[in-house]
Amino acid sequence: MKQVSSFVGVFILLCMSFANLFAQGKFIEIISPEDNKLQTELTMNVVVSIKKQSADYIKIITPVEQIIMDINSSKALQCKNISLKLGENTVIVRTYKNKALVEEKRRHIYVSSELYHQFKYPPIKYKQSYFHNDANEKLCATCHDMSVNEVKGVAFKDVTKSNCYQCHKNVTKGKFAHAPAVNWLCTSCHKTNNKDKTKYTTPKVVNESCFECHKDNKKLWSSAKYKHEPLDAGNCSKCHNSHASPYSMFLRKPVNEICVGCHADKHIQARESKNSKCGYNDTKLCTSCHTPHASNKPFFVKNASEKKEKK
Ligand code: HEC
Ligand code: HEC
Ligand code: HEC
Ligand code: HEC
Ligand code: HEC
Ligand code: HEC
Ligand code: HEC
Repeated sequence: MKQVSSFVGVFILLCMSFANLFAQGKFIEIISPEDNKLQTELTMNVVVSIKKQSADYIKIITPVEQIIMDINSSKALQCKNISLKLGENTVIVRTYKNKALVEEKRRHIYVSSELYHQFKYPPIKYKQSYFHNDANEKLCATCHDMSVNEVKGVAFKDVTKSNCYQCHKNVTKGKFAHAPAVNWLCTSCHKTNNKDKTKYTTPKVVNESCFECHKDNKKLWSSAKYKHEPLDAGNCSKCHNSHASPYSMFLRKPVNEICVGCHADKHIQARESKNSKCGYNDTKLCTSCHTPHASNKPFFVKNASEKKEKK
């Protein structure tokens, strides 16, 4: 009798593991992100479709957090904002039924940054991919309003009323946040267009958008004799995060780390040679002597009045 029951037990176990094998790839579908996505923000959305009754809860694991979510059976799709780190991230989505793992799916995401040598050149398998196309938006539109509801130049009194807020609230988190982003005037920079792969442009060369509001800066800098290369190339977002950051002026790093990040060689050389006319003095801000943008003086050295102004 004992023998029979253990035989049955083994048989059942075998069947279960076959069922498990069979189930691989059957119950979870990750709608967003695409695998091998390249991006610059440290936050993104995970949207998964889970076959009805196949699981009780879901675990999302990223290198910086673990999220456990009960499955809301009234929702066709489960959606969550997650946080990432710079460089390679593996995002694991697991579903559980009666506390046992049912299925697991993975996505590989690379968060790049021009300001760190080690995160500047992502492995080639990573590609920028976009979400806002008609097919994807249709999947969300039964529950989320996907239209643009901002009025140009008019801040939302209650930002949660922006149609973008629910899915993107994390991009504006950060001690120092940029006015148009915290007022949810997203399309002042993300122009809507239908020609691209996405409804919203995500410009690398962004200066023309910036200058629509920062007109005085445009005037001042365009007439200056010497322009700093990244500014001249229109790449304001190499130094500034247009949304928000932990550092003043929404810089991507503290001032001196930003400068030394790109000028490490010179920085080291100058410290070693006594002849350098540059202070490269780590106890002072680089911007106490240099302007980061443009100037009429070589090496963008500030004149006395500019220095005073900053005090
Ligand atoms: C069946 C309805 C439904 C569909 C379809 C749906 N959502 Fe949601 N979504 C919700 C509800 C309700 C909330 C808010 C409460 C919650 O999180 O359950 C939400 C919240 C979110 C959040 C915020 C989650 C968080 O961490 O705060 C994101 C991001 C999101 N949805 C993205 C999407 C995307 C992208 C799609 C389309 C691919 C989509 N949703 C489709 C109902 C839906
Ligand atoms: C239902 C959720 C949802 C809503 C509502 C939503 N987005 Fe998105 N958006 C996403 C997802 C998902 C991505 C892919 C990147 C990610 O996961 O964060 C994305 C990406 C983007 C991107 C990067 C380009 C692209 O197409 O991938 C921009 C820009 C953007 N959204 C702007 C907006 C703006 C502006 C609004 C409001 C008018 C808005 N989004 C509303 C879910 C949403
Ligand atoms: C001042 C201009 C500006 C405003 C306002 C702005 N963005 Fe952006 N956004 C950018 C730029 C520039 C990029 C591309 C960044 C890069 O190349 O590093 C970007 C990238 C993004 C991305 C893609 C991030 C990635 O990692 O690929 C999303 C999503 C996004 N923005 C959403 C929003 C939302 C939502 C709002 C409104 C709250 C908003 N943005 C407001 C300039 C802006
Ligand atoms: C829709 C208008 C608008 C656009 C577009 C815009 N800004 Fe701004 N920006 C503002 C406002 C408003 C402020 C806050 C008031 C001020 O200091 O001028 C601000 C402040 C700033 C500040 C801080 C200034 C300070 O003294 O505190 C920086 C840095 C900045 N913006 C950079 C950018 C960059 C880079 C872009 C393009 C990617 C950009 N802005 C695009 C409206 C805009
Ligand atoms: C090389 C890095 C770098 C680039 C590129 C850059 N900025 Fe800045 N920006 C800074 C730093 C650093 C500060 C803070 C200056 C200070 O504290 O004196 C700043 C300050 C600002 C300010 C507020 C102070 C002021 O001078 O008005 C604005 C506005 C601004 N930047 C806009 C822009 C725009 C627009 C672009 C692109 C056309 C841009 N920046 C490109 C590094 C940069
Ligand atoms: C994204 C990279 C980048 C960042 C960040 C950056 N620079 Fe530059 N900088 C360059 C490039 C590229 C040049 C032009 C080539 C060269 O001279 O190295 C340049 C040129 C200069 C020059 C003129 C050098 C010469 O020989 O003519 C000075 C001075 C300078 N940067 C100072 C700064 C300061 C101060 C900061 C911080 C506010 C800074 N840079 C941040 C890329 C950067
Ligand atoms: C005390 C003022 C002062 C400080 C602080 C300062 N600089 Fe300079 N820097 C100068 C002057 C003056 C020159 C022009 C040298 C010349 O005329 O040959 C210069 C030149 C430069 C140059 C171009 C010439 C070279 O040596 O290659 C770069 C790049 C530079 N500085 C970057 C920086 C960075 C990065 C910081 C912050 C770590 C910094 N500077 C801090 C005053 C300063």
